[in-house]
Amino acid sequence: MRRIAILTAGGDTPALNATIHGAVERANQLEIEVYGIVKGFGGMIDSRVPHVRLNPLYSTIPELDPRLGGTLLGASRTYIDPAKTDELKQVMQRLSKLELEGLICIGGDGTISGMQPLTEYFPCVLAPKTIDNDLGLNYLDECNAWRRVTTPDGRTDYVYECDREELELGEIINFAVPGYATAVFVVAQSISRIRTTAESHRRIAIVEVMGRHSGYIALGSAYGQPDIILLPESRMDLDHVEARVRELYDMQKHVVIAIGEGVEDDQGNMLGAESFSVDPAGNVRLSGAAEALKAMLCERLGDEFFISRRRDMKATSAIFTRKVGHTQRGGRPIQFDRFYASQLGGKAVDLINEGRNNEIATLQWSDSRGFYVDSIHANKMCDRWNHIHARRLHPSFYDSHRMQPSKLGRAFLKTIFDNAIGSDDVEHILNTAFSPSNLNNRYQSMNVDVHKRMQFLD
Ligand code: F6P
Repeated sequence: MRRIAILTAGGDTPALNATIHGAVERANQLEIEVYGIVKGFGGMIDSRVPHVRLNPLYSTIPELDPRLGGTLLGASRTYIDPAKTDELKQVMQRLSKLELEGLICIGGDGTISGMQPLTEYFPCVLAPKTIDNDLGLNYLDECNAWRRVTTPDGRTDYVYECDREELELGEIINFAVPGYATAVFVVAQSISRIRTTAESHRRIAIVEVMGRHSGYIALGSAYGQPDIILLPESRMDLDHVEARVRELYDMQKHVVIAIGEGVEDDQGNMLGAESFSVDPAGNVRLSGAAEALKAMLCERLGDEFFISRRRDMKATSAIFTRKVGHTQRGGRPIQFDRFYASQLGGKAVDLINEGRNNEIATLQWSDSRGFYVDSIHANKMCDRWNHIHARRLHPSFYDSHRMQPSKLGRAFLKTIFDNAIGSDDVEHILNTAFSPSNLNNRYQSMNVDVHKRMQFLD
């Protein structure tokens, strides 16, 4: 194999450069040239978008730094529409003009779905990334747990009905996806910081975390010790939440609640999807779960609750919400993400070099081996209607009565996080947080440096 391309699709994560770096380093060993396609699939469709040679003379360009968050290739949520044959033709022309023999897509569940039309004509493999940790399966034939339904308004929808009560951690396909560990690190830090202000001012803090319909980030928020954790996979029982809030508030004079953005009420309505706006990939934009819960608690508790406890505050100011937001996706990846992202990038190169197509590099875990890289064919992730779903957190990971991770959920988290931070992560904070050079120098964007290496086809 002489030349391949790589692109980053979907939302960014902190470990994308680490994955690209791992892929390029492996390609150097195998003497394969790597071209970076700029702006994800958007860059494949639009021939005016340039590409970058990532390893001229099989030596990695210095701009590619695995410790930097984001992606030096840029990303987009644009995917190839299989119905638009001219679009597909254009992409094929581009691949052939660049004399490419394979493509590595770095992405999540949206990317693997978006990659499918291309795999009919061209060898493609996926190196996984997503802060949501929702690319994978809890166990091998989990795709059969999806049922297709028609909604009352005539739309087709898919419903997950988990058919397994118990799970062994070693059964999980793609245990932890690069980006997840860093996102949990940021969330845990945010929650502990909000804690002390809620504690001092006797307030109720509701902190919203990302993850769409999967509660992995919310589960990981447990490291910040929120009093209540609410996940999308477990419909919220408002009576139970209210009773626990009252009990905790009377005991400790403040409460911290972590809520996943995709949390549903007891009828299955998403708290945060009031607006129903969608991103370019067709995903419903979720925003407002924390605000919706705040409104419910304000109504249930009322001003009286706070006044009777001698708080000089109305419910609307005693209860406050914060979103951790895009800081979950940004910044330097912690050691766990850096290390395994680069291994998975290397694995993706091996897969394409071995002639595999439509294969996904995965990070596996077993009791005897610890973490190791492997792969799975994308077909194994498809349900019988050929649809790839975001993985849901297995019900056995969550204790809905305590509203905290279950014993198995804690074991899952410990497997990833016990050694997730390296001493260099700590040193990095020591060396950079208040470095005088931050005051003297402007931020040096990798976009500026990499732009000088851009090459145009037409
Ligand atoms: O899938 C990653 C993710 O960060 C989700 O957790 C979140 O819902 C979404 O992307 C936000 O996307 P955007 O940056 O397009 O608003």
